Parts: sequence; structure tokens; C-alpha cells
Amino acid sequence: MNDSTMSPTVSSLRAEYRSDTGFVAIPTPRLSWTTSTGATDWTQLSAEVEQGGQIVVVDGRDSVLVDWPFAPLAPGEVRSVRVRVTGSDGVVTDWSEPLVVEAGFLGDGGWSAPLVKAASPLGVGHPLLVRGEFDVPEGVVRAILFATAQGVYQAEINGTEVDDQILKPGWTAYQHRLTHETTDVSALLRTGSNVIGVRLSGGWFTESFGFQGKEKPFYGTEPAVAVQLVLTLDDGSTRTVLSDDSWLTFADGPILSSGIYDGETVDARREPEGWSSPDFVASGWERAATVSDFPVPTPRSSPAVRVIEELPVRDVITSPSGRTILDFGQNLVGRLRITVTGAEGHTVVLRHAEVLENGELGIRPLRRAKATDAYTLAGGESETWEPRFTFHGFRYAEIENWPGEFDPANVTAMVIHSDMQRTGWFDSSHALVNRLHENVVWGMRGNFLYLPTDCPQRDERLGWTGDIQVFAPTASYLYDADGFLASWLEDLALEQSDRHGVVPFIVPDVLGGFSAPAAAWGDAATVVPSVLFERFGDRSVLLKQYRSMRDWADTIVALSGERMLWEGNFQFGDWLDPDAPAEYPAAAKTDADIVATAHVFLSVDLVAKAAVELGFDQDALRYRALAESIRAAFRREYVTGSGRIVSDAQTAYSMVIMFGLAEDAAEEQRMGDRLATLVRSSGYRIGTGFVGTPLVLDALTRTGHLDAADRLLTQTDNPSWLYPVTMGATTIWERWDSMLEDGSINPGEMTSFNHYALGAVADWMHRSLAGLAPASPGYRDIRIEPRPLPEFDYATTSHQTPYGLASTGWRRVGERLVVTALIPANTTAEVLLPGAGASFTVGSGDYKWEVADRPTAADVVSPALTIDSDLVEIIDDRATYESVLAAISAVDSDEARNFRAHTKWLPGRSLADELMMTSAVVVQAAEEVFAEKARKPSDQ
Ligand code: BGC
Repeated sequence: MNDSTMSPTVSSLRAEYRSDTGFVAIPTPRLSWTTSTGATDWTQLSAEVEQGGQIVVVDGRDSVLVDWPFAPLAPGEVRSVRVRVTGSDGVVTDWSEPLVVEAGFLGDGGWSAPLVKAASPLGVGHPLLVRGEFDVPEGVVRAILFATAQGVYQAEINGTEVDDQILKPGWTAYQHRLTHETTDVSALLRTGSNVIGVRLSGGWFTESFGFQGKEKPFYGTEPAVAVQLVLTLDDGSTRTVLSDDSWLTFADGPILSSGIYDGETVDARREPEGWSSPDFVASGWERAATVSDFPVPTPRSSPAVRVIEELPVRDVITSPSGRTILDFGQNLVGRLRITVTGAEGHTVVLRHAEVLENGELGIRPLRRAKATDAYTLAGGESETWEPRFTFHGFRYAEIENWPGEFDPANVTAMVIHSDMQRTGWFDSSHALVNRLHENVVWGMRGNFLYLPTDCPQRDERLGWTGDIQVFAPTASYLYDADGFLASWLEDLALEQSDRHGVVPFIVPDVLGGFSAPAAAWGDAATVVPSVLFERFGDRSVLLKQYRSMRDWADTIVALSGERMLWEGNFQFGDWLDPDAPAEYPAAAKTDADIVATAHVFLSVDLVAKAAVELGFDQDALRYRALAESIRAAFRREYVTGSGRIVSDAQTAYSMVIMFGLAEDAAEEQRMGDRLATLVRSSGYRIGTGFVGTPLVLDALTRTGHLDAADRLLTQTDNPSWLYPVTMGATTIWERWDSMLEDGSINPGEMTSFNHYALGAVADWMHRSLAGLAPASPGYRDIRIEPRPLPEFDYATTSHQTPYGLASTGWRRVGERLVVTALIPANTTAEVLLPGAGASFTVGSGDYKWEVADRPTAADVVSPALTIDSDLVEIIDDRATYESVLAAISAVDSDEARNFRAHTKWLPGRSLADELMMTSAVVVQAAEEVFAEKARKPSDQ
């Protein structure tokens, strides 16, 4: 919290994008800084940026992603930058701590190392050891390693690994873009003979991708690695060591096989001792073959992947068939580290799964992914091992053939993902909603491993565009995902340019030709850059992606033809609508053509907005006019005179309200009212799929139906956000009912227990329930608008905005509501307090306001309800509704299930009408609820 005596200081000076390394990927990295101060209403009047004695003044408030104000960095150059700022009060801060940036890139034509690989390959993706010897002269002051692979690698120098990163260089659209890591290895070298050793495997490069029996390696079959080591001597001269055909490869090393999907098999006896140290005699090693035809590697700008957390075994289970299964208490992504002692040649096998079924590992959802690791002991001393080039999505692991007594302390789950900075938090009085939020965080952690994936466990783990299209706002709140997603967008644009504007289903695209333009999936091209601009103020990503955004919009406008309606083509539509059959997830209530044209409008609208921002005036006019024509066409075709949409379904209304497709405010309100009616009619259980779910609570909120939003969010019946939580979920599921109520796994072909898409609701929890949203790009201006919901006593959220920590929240105290907010320096906030008619603006500082609480459901005296009351009155009195359900369940669980699933909670019908066709005991049980209430009116 603010200390008002604290004088302003510049903190956290940083260069784009990675905060985990001093190396920068481009010659002119933008700079950001935050100012901490106890003063309220603090804004920056100007800033001075100093480097090498040169001071550049930045006038005004800019402090986020400020253009590099000096000469571009040359390859290998190191510079030290400082910032000091002058506040609106005229007070000048001290200089910040220096930020040392080092060019992490080579110059044009600077990459000269070929890839090296096995001259006689042993099979698809077969792992290799690679070694190169080189001499280091006296006087080396610095050694920088640039390395990349077609495959995945780790480098060692003289027996020491160069860093703690995993699965380098990650997965990019390899045919277009290879990235290298830049590492300072000065401390690992010695004068004289040195060795670079590389452990190498196929990873994503040689993995078999595809569906319907057409799985095959997409990029290639042999892993290869390229290494370029630049030594700087004390006289300023440089020497470069390159991988080449004098390097040696060894195919009989410890890793027998390794695959992203299948897992890794290792025989520790085969580790050649000292193989990456100078004195090793490399007998049986083979000279490497070289490959020169590959894209020039560029520095990776997205964060490294590392072990982020370690989880101990929570429980050891003996399964009905007698197997030993470990429960880590959390569905996670990573792998196991084991410490084991046993005889040479003894093999321990580790199998992974997300859930148990009938007490055994539930592996059917993994499809063809074997997710199995095996380790053969070298024998003797205790051995610690963790697979290197694979990862699994699991909560449970089966341990087979453990030598001797099993001690769970010898197994640890290593959680791995891209090492982004955590930036978003949420808390409330509702324990299940808190767990839901936690599950969203874990869902993101499991699916942000170099690229945003659909799921981390089965034979997909692909960059499905639709999934990140809906999840990008949530991701951008929870973690600093700017560099990560900007990097993925580069691949999206490259893949798209290969397909004349069509964005493939997945990026990187390994389905070759399987893709068609698909609404809500391809729109990742327009939505994700817009989100990065809105949340991080990252204007350059908007500029870089502008062509891709426009090409996608042009493609789908062309498909919409003269009628300006995108009709009849393949669509995923409102994928996984809970009313669609398990085996046909595209059969949603909202017509796929309606979803398609709504997204044409969305994308064209976003291009128009980007054009305005970037100053492309002609385009701005053109795309604005196009958007208006699409809106007119949409309304002409799909909206009736009274404002109904021809697919009278929640997703249809939610899209129109949130994309801004309604004619005017009055029509939007009518649609919101209809949406609320539909939401209640389905018993406040979810009625939307991939497209509608991220929108529905916002659409209800915007049209004033907060009580309906409250009921929908806090519903625990299937389908709902909280149903999985009540079933013990620790991540977000792909399907609302990935696990059925009887504990069995949904029989559908796609049943993952770790899919972030439906967790996109968390963004609404931050922005609307707790009430913290950006009002201008990058949170330069903040919107504080908390919405206390009846089911909650408090809700709070914090976000590390690019300007510093912001937080807000509200709490019921007696009959008052206390709202607090922390507004970071150099921002302003527009505040709309609950129940207030008008907003007001505040500057930075710590605030507390009190307003009258509106009556909650518990305070309202219910009307005297009877079995003859209208269904709408009954469901809107939550306590009575729940008592009726409980009473029916107690006498007939099948009837209760039918009643829950099929009752339409619409006005004009009584509960007695609804129960007409059920048994007398059910009616009697319901009647007893009302009789009981009549006897104890004070309980209501
Ligand atoms: C993936 C989804 C993806 C979908 C496309 C699935 O197999 O897991 O998340 O978006 O296919 O329909």
C-alpha cells in the first residue's frame, strides 16, 4: 500500500519483451518503467532516459513501451540505461537502477553455423549426443552461445549445462522461422581444449501429427542442431566456433526414444561418462552430416520454459487391479523427477493420466499419446532422473516396477511452462468460484508452453486458434503474456501468408491442407493483436500484425459475397454447445452461419479500429463502411422486426450485444432481456459453447441482468462453470461434463480435463465482478466498476498493469458496501460505484468509498409461494428452488434429473403444471416443501 511520505522513485525499468534475460532480441527495444510514490494524483510530466552520457527527454506521460531513443544496438553491444522522471508536482526523482541490455542477436548475414545431424540416422526423431571440440585462446573476456535446433536440445560446455531451460528452442512454424537462444557461457570456458556437448531429440520437429489415421511427421524425420559460439578477447577481437562436419554424433546414448506424445525411454547405463568434457575418447562416434537449408535463426522473444514449481505426492493409491498410483492433487503439466536405488538394468515405468476411472488410470482421453516414461537404472548409488524432451498433462501417475520399498518422497512432479510473470489475482467470499479461478490459472499454466495450446495431454497439444482467440483477454490479465503471444502471432502471419489470407485452424499448422477458414478460430488474427494493444498498450504488435488482420478480414468478406453474409461453408460454430450430442460438437443451437457473419463484423470492426489507431485513414474509412454494410446485412437476414434473432439462442444474443451488432441501445436492451429470459429458462445452467461462453456474462451485465449473471456463475448443476469444481476439478475441462455425474469419463472422442477456453469467464470476474478494467490501452486509464452480486459478500482483484499494481474490490459491511481501489502512479481511474448514476475520475492513490448496499436475495421477503406459483417465481427464489430440487431428488433421483434437464423456466406455467406427468410421490414431496415453508415463514 501507499506510504504518503514515500517520495517518487522509478522502479522496474525493463526492455521488451523478456524479463528473464538481459539479452534483447531487437536493436531498438522499447523501454517501460513504473514510478512508485506515496503522492496521490501523481502523473509524469516528463522523463529523461540516459545512456552513455546522452540524455533524451520524453515529454508527457509516456512510460510504457517507449520507443528506444538512442542509436540502435549493434550485435554484441552492451549498454546501460537509466531513467528519471519529473512528476506533475515538479519533483524530480533520482536516477533509476541501471538496466543493462545486451544485443542478443547477430548482424545481417551473421548466422553461419550449419545444422548438424547424424550421418546415418537410426529412425524417426532418434535422440543423439553431439559433441564439438574447440580451443580457447588466452584472454577471452566473454563467450556468447547462439544455438537452435530442428528438434529440441540442451547444450553443455565441459560437462555443465548452459542454463535451466527446457525443450529449447520451442515450437515455431519451423519451415518459416527458427528461433535461437542467446546465453552467456563465459564462466564455463577454460583456456585450451573445450567441448560443447548437445543432447538432441526430435521433439515437435519429428512428431507425428494428424488425425484419422493420417498421422505422420510434418517437418522432418531427423533432429539437427546448430551452434555458434562467439568469443570476445581482451583486445576486442572476436573468434567464432561453429558446429560443422568435424563434430561427432552418437546414436547409442542413454535416451532410447523420446516423443512429445509418447514419452521418453532412457537407459542410464548407456551414458558415456564425461562425453561433453575434453578428455573423453569418442570411440564409436560418427562424424556429423550438415544441413544448410533452413531459415536464418532469429532470437526468441518469448520467455523461456522452465520448471516453475515442484509438487510432492499427495496420496499413494493401490488401484483395484493392484497397481501403485500417485495422486499429486492437481492436474498439471510437466513430468516426474524420481530418485531411485536399485540393481543395474532394472526398469521403472511411469504412466500418466489426468483422471481415474474405476480406480485405474483413465487413459482413453489421451488417444494415441502413450504418455509413458521408462528409466533403466545404471545401478549402485541412488539415481535421480527426470525425462528431458517430453511433457505430460496429468494429476495421477502409475509407478510400475519400483525396486524395493516405495517411498513417495522419492517422486516429485515438476511443473513446467513458459516463465511469464504472474500479474493477475482474484479472491472472493465464494469458495467454489475461487477454485474455479484457480483452475483457470492452472489451465493457462498447462497450456502456455512456448505456444498457446488447446490441451496438454492427448495427441493434439496444438495451437488451436479459436481457443486462444477467446482466452487471450484472461491470459493477458493473469500473466504478462505480451511477448509470448506476440511471438505466436508472428507464426500465425507466416502460416497465413502461405494460404492467401486464410488463417489455418492451428498455428503452427501441421495439418497441411486440412484447414478451411473458420469463424471464431481464424479471427484470432484480428482479436489477439487487439487484445495485446488493449491490455499492454503494445501498439507495435498491432502494426506488425496489421497486414495479417486485414488479410483475414478481406478473406472472410470475400467469402461473404454480395449478400455480405458468410453462409454455407465449413464452420466449428458454437463448438461444444452443451446441448450438442457428445459425438457431434458442432451441432449448436445457434446457427453456424449466424456465428460466421457475426465474426465477419467483429473482424472488420477490429481492422477499422486498428486503422484509426495506426493512422491509416483510407483503411479506417473503408473498413468502417464495410462493417456498417455487414451489420445491415446481418440484421436484414437474422433479426426480426421485434429484435429476436432467428436462432433464438443465448450465443446469438451474446454475440450481437458484445460485438455491437444491434441497431441501437433500445434493440440491444430488448436482446439483453431476451437473453436473460433464455438463461433463466434453462434453469440458470450453461447454454453456450466456445463462442458464447466468454460473452454471455458480459452481455447480461451490459444489459443490466446482474442477478441472472450471478445465478449462472454460481450454478453447480451440470452444465455450469462450477459443476466440474464440485466434481473435484483442478483445471478447466474441455467439455462441461468431461466427467459425467457418475464419475465416468465422457464417451466423446474429445474429452480433455485441461482446456482453458471455457475459463475465459475469468476475464469477466476481474473486470465486472471485482471491477478492474482498462479504459485506455495498457491501463493508462483504468475503469473501476465493481458489481456486488447477491451470492457474494466480497470480491477483490489485483493486476500488475504496465504502470504498476492496481487493485480494487468491494465488501459488504452491515448495510453498507465498502469499495477500495489502488490506482498506480501515472494513471487515472474512472470510478462508477455500485448504485451510482454517474462516474467520477480520480488520480493515483489508495481509495476507500462507502455506499448503501442494495438488498440481497436473503433480505427480500419472498412472496408466499405454493406449488401453483409460476415457475419463474420459483426459480428466482433460489432457496425455494433448491428445496424443491432436493425434495424431488430425495424421493426419485431419475425424476429429479429429468426435471432439472428438461424444465423450461418460462413464465405462464406453474410448478404443478410442470409436475403433472410425474408420480404422486414427487408431487407430494414438492408440496411438502411449501407446506414446510408456510409453517416456518421466518426461515425464508
Ligand atoms: C481441440 C479444440 C479445438 C477444436 C476445433 C479440438 O480437437 O481440442 O480445442 O479448438 O478441436 O474444433
